[in-house]
Amino acid sequence: MNSINLENSEIIQVVFFILLAFLSMFLVLVLFFYFSRKKIVQIEVEKKNIEIENQKKILQNTIETQEEERKRIAQDLHDDISSKLNIVSLNTHLLRTPNLKDEELNEITQNIIELTKKALENSRRIAHDLLPPVLEKFGLHSGIEELVFECNSSKSVTVEYFNSSTKESLESLSAGTQLHVFRILQELINNSLKHGKAKKITISLENISNQVKLLYQDDGLGFNRNDDEVKAGIGMSNIASRVTIINGESQIFSKPNEGFQFQLIFAYE
Ligand SMILES: Nc1ncnc2c1ncn2[C@@H]1O[C@H](COP(=O)(O)OP(=O)(O)OP(=O)(O)O)[C@@H](O)[C@H]1O
Ligand SMILES: [Mg+2]
Repeated sequence: MNSINLENSEIIQVVFFILLAFLSMFLVLVLFFYFSRKKIVQIEVEKKNIEIENQKKILQNTIETQEEERKRIAQDLHDDISSKLNIVSLNTHLLRTPNLKDEELNEITQNIIELTKKALENSRRIAHDLLPPVLEKFGLHSGIEELVFECNSSKSVTVEYFNSSTKESLESLSAGTQLHVFRILQELINNSLKHGKAKKITISLENISNQVKLLYQDDGLGFNRNDDEVKAGIGMSNIASRVTIINGESQIFSKPNEGFQFQLIFAYE
């Protein structure tokens, strides 16, 4: 009888331990799922936060770009147009002076003609800077050709441009995308001349499936992005904003004394 009781209590103990083991395993599993779920949610939240931060930066950059652009246009209008029109106005009033000699009349009229001509030229230049007419009329390829021609005529640098992308691929780009790519190239060239003191620049456009690949390189001084001397200007961050706006992907390669390379890939419709 005693031995039966002993066996029963042993069985109860075994069952109890098995139950306890299952319960512990269950608990461990629940805890494991709870914490891994929490981790996943945390990673998702962090990702979303980074996305929001990036969007905020782009918005900030866009606003800064607009402000810079407005400042520049205001300066150009003030220095190149308003000042000239002011003198034209003064000269026109002078014409009312009684008993003007022929010589004086001639001089004043000549002044008015020359200043009006300059004001007209300047307003044309300002308008062209805002939206290069060649880009609007003939598209990105011709815009780049003109840019390259202007740089080469300065004789301080040689720019080579190769375009193997199809006409249709470039024509299907929106006017906005074409302008963004054009502005990116303008800034890259500015930097190559200003910082890299480059002597040779190569620009190429090609198609990869339904995308356009832009490759830009210079043979200048190059730089190391982590270097303290390399100050983040507005130029490179504008480029980054423009790349995001056109849904492109870009990469920069540069090392001191090894030139600078920029690659941009973006889709065409
Ligand atoms: N092609 C290049 N060769 C050598 N250094 C470059 C080149 N492009 C950029 N850099 C370095 O990167 C820095 C940041 O360039 P970024 O265009 O942002 O500013 P910036 O040209 O100094 O000023 P901003 O463009 O606002 O007038 C430059 O100051 C320069 O040190
Ligand atoms: Mg710059």
